[in-house]
Amino acid sequence: MSGASAIDRAREALSGAPRVTVLTGSGASAESGVPTFRDAAGLWQQVQLEDVATPEGFAAAEPNPAHRALAALEDRVGQVSLITQNVDGLHQAAGSGRVVELHGSLWDLRCTGCGTTRSDHRVPLPEVPPRCPACGEWQRPGVVWFGEGLPPGALEEAAQAAREADVFLSVGTAAEVAPAGSLPLLARQAGAFVVEINPQPSAVADEVDLALRGPAGELLPRFVAEVGPAR
Ligand code: OAD
Repeated sequence: MSGASAIDRAREALSGAPRVTVLTGSGASAESGVPTFRDAAGLWQQVQLEDVATPEGFAAAEPNPAHRALAALEDRVGQVSLITQNVDGLHQAAGSGRVVELHGSLWDLRCTGCGTTRSDHRVPLPEVPPRCPACGEWQRPGVVWFGEGLPPGALEEAAQAAREADVFLSVGTAAEVAPAGSLPLLARQAGAFVVEINPQPSAVADEVDLALRGPAGELLPRFVAEVGPAR
């Protein structure tokens, strides 16, 4: 757990920052019961697909204090750009406004025939796999699978937000997967004060300005509520 002085430094950096960009990874949802990928208990170690890769599994997960603190940050600084690698929709459920979903969303269905993407929050789906209402072809989850490119425009939007940030928060990501993992470095090269919030050092930990070591759901609420003044 990080000491009070590190928390104070994070709060001071955020206070008065016109523009804050946040990158989140699976660790931000860990305290919602959504497994990470590469930790000892991560998804790639013990796959329980029915718990984690189905709408039913995600429907059971609720936003945790980390998601809620990041949503509350939007009322406390000039502008927040939230970029996530997560496909669980928990930032939106917590009230964050615009969220750039670099790896897509489990709540989107994309037609394998006509390519149309639709948001669908029904749990369970009436038909699995679901059929496209427009053309009748199968629909697939609107997430990025291995070997696929990122959603059109998402990386460009994320990179721009990283370059324009005064403060960049990297929350709950190992920063091992390109290109998202390079966003904290891009932000720092462009002059941002980069804060990592993660119990473990990420791949870019040596290059951040400040590291807060502990669970995001405990650390973020400790300083976001005092960032100010609230508008
Ligand atoms: P990883 O599993 O690689 O990393 C999770 C990170 O979260 C680790 O650095 C943990 O230390 C940290 N962590 C664990 N619990 C935490 C907590 N309570 N608070 C804060 N941090 C915590 O997951 P990602 O970095 O998100 O891509 O992985 C990135 C991408 O790799 C995923 O989006 C996915 C995967 O392949 C696709 O599926 C396209």
